[in-house]
Parts: sequence; structure tokens; C-alpha cells
Amino acid sequence: MSTRVILPRIMQVGAGASLALPDVLTSLSCAKPLIITDAMMVQLGYVQALQDCLTKNDIDSSVFADTVPEPTVGSIQAGVEMARQGSYDCVVALGGGSPIDSAKAIAVLSCLGGEMRDYKFPRIMDQPGLPVIAIPTTAGTGSEATRVTIITDESCDEKMLCVGAAYMPSAALVDYNLTLSVPPRTTADTGIDALTHAMEAYVSKKASLYSDSQALEAMRLIAPNLRTAYHNGKDEKAREAMMLGSTLAGVAFSNASVALVHGMSRPIGAFFHVPHGLSNAMLLPAVTEYSIPAAPDRYADCARAMGVAEQGDSDELANHKLLTELKALNDELSVPGPQEFGIDKVAFFEVLDTMALQALASGSPANNPRVPDAEEIKAIYQQLWD
Ligand SMILES: [Fe+2]
Repeated sequence: MSTRVILPRIMQVGAGASLALPDVLTSLSCAKPLIITDAMMVQLGYVQALQDCLTKNDIDSSVFADTVPEPTVGSIQAGVEMARQGSYDCVVALGGGSPIDSAKAIAVLSCLGGEMRDYKFPRIMDQPGLPVIAIPTTAGTGSEATRVTIITDESCDEKMLCVGAAYMPSAALVDYNLTLSVPPRTTADTGIDALTHAMEAYVSKKASLYSDSQALEAMRLIAPNLRTAYHNGKDEKAREAMMLGSTLAGVAFSNASVALVHGMSRPIGAFFHVPHGLSNAMLLPAVTEYSIPAAPDRYADCARAMGVAEQGDSDELANHKLLTELKALNDELSVPGPQEFGIDKVAFFEVLDTMALQALASGSPANNPRVPDAEEIKAIYQQLWD
């Protein structure tokens, strides 16, 4: 059996990679970019720096800076209009996962028309929209190297998963310098998201030797550096490892899919506006504990790659150490439980059935080594309150 691997055409990786944008645009035969970003990137001066670098190379650019965290159908509409009205030949996505996901959706909708709902999974969208050049500023969602975008339909609180080659950026400029100013909370949330991508890709039923190699290396890079990046954001070695690990984890899950953590995480995010990485972090220990019996060898490999178990440890001991580590990591990174985050318990239990159905409908739980039914999913959600 063979596996189809989809990657960006160009990946520029390392310190200062974002400054290669003019060159990369030329390589892609693009000359009129629309930069899609958010207010924070403007405030940090990153947008100006990018535009200055383009101007020096005689490239005019426009900016849409109104993307929001956990983007919705409504939040991207103005960006779609702007992209439709200008004669842009590409989109430059600058920011964390939300601006990049917004840009992917805008690139498709402005070019191919229709509503976001038309593009929801299980539709596989391979016809390209405008080329996207992704410049991530967190480590991260890995969105710069995935064929996925997530847009929330605010009319029914559903996080719509959209999949296909259309959402794979044409180029990814992976510049860890842009992560040096990311605050600890975001570093933790996005870092655990990246770790989850790597673990889920590795245990996924759709894993291949190719995705395994990316996932294991991602775990080797992320796990020993996440705490350092959280406590000392200026540590360049830790930031560099986290950034590359995050991109490799993106490559891994884009080609092997995510699994139960992500399936259950999206409804929590949609209903209670919990940042994506944080809802993953809340779920990761409980879902891992539930899943280990179906793939003890795979999870033990994760523990060894992360450096929390010795090569000679039995699978059982390695998995025990893995669970201990995931809980300790959440403690050290101050990951709140749902109550501590401020979720109303009654409201949570009222939508338990809907969340379980949405999780199953996303398709991600079916990739898990142990596939739950709705009742089992509800039991795991309930466990978060114990
Ligand atoms: Fe994720």
C-alpha cells in the first residue's frame, strides 16, 4: 500500500526565514499579495517589517488585519470581499493558526465562490484557490504545512473541518525569530497542540512509515523544549526546536490525520470558546489513558521519543511514565480544568449529547486506535470534571 504525501512546494526554515518572502513570491510567480493577519501582528510591527521588505523589492501589498481567534464564517467575510475586489494573485498569511486558517478559507472562497459550509468535511477540496504563503508566528498549529482549515459556523456553534489540497499552503516560511515574543500562556497552549498533533498522527489508524518518521521527530523536538520555551521565551534553541517540531507535527497529522483528542476538542472550543490548544491539553491525559489499551506499543514509542521513558522500559512501564508526564506537563504549564477555566458545569452537561455527536461527525475519532461510541465520548468529557 502506498501513501500520498502533500507538502508545501517551498519551505524556508530557520532564523530570518520570513525575510525571504520577496524571493519566495518570485519563485511562485506571484507579484501582488494580500497579507492576511491580525491586530496583534500589526501592533508588534511584524506586518510593517514584512511590507518594508516587500517594498524594497518593488512589491506592493495590501493588508487585511481583522482576523479573529477561532475564526468564524462571519469573521472572514470582509476578507473574502477584499480579496475578491482586488486583483491579488496570492495571499500571505501571517500569525498563529487563526490568521492562517482564515487566510486558507479566504483564498478558496474568494476564488471559487460559495459558502464555507459547502466545503465542510467529508467534501475533499483539491481544486486550488489563490496560492497561500504561510508565515507562522506560534509553534504551533502546524497550519503552515497542513491541508486543513477549521472555520466555526456561529449560527450553530459548529467547528467545520475543511480538508483538501486546496488548503495546503504553496509555501511555508518557518521563522522561529517570530516566536520569541509569544507570551507563556500561548506558548503552552500552542506547544501542547503541536505535541498532540505528533502523538495523534503516530497512533492514528491512518499512520504510515512516512508520517511516523515526521511524528517521532516532532516529539523528540517538542517534548524536551516545551517547558523551557514556556519559562524562558527568549531561549532561542528551545524556540527553534519547538518551531521545527510544530511544522513536522503539522506534516505528520496532515498526512495521517488527528484522532480522538482533536475530535473531542473542537466542540469544547465551539461551545465554550476555549482556545484550541487549551481544550486539547485538558483532554490529552484522559484520552491517552482511554486509548492506550488498543495500541500500547505505539504509545510506548511516544513515551520513548519524548524522552520520558528509557529505551529498555517495557511498554507497560513506558505508558505509565507517559501518563504521569502528560499530567505533570499540564500542572507545570498551568493548564486549567474546565471549571477553573470558567465553563459553567450545567451548561456543559446540557450540550454533552450534541458535543459527542459533533465529535463523532468530524470523523477524527474513527482514526483513534480505540474507537469510542457516543456514550464513551460523554464519559471522557465527564471525567474532565472529576
Ligand atoms: Fe490542533
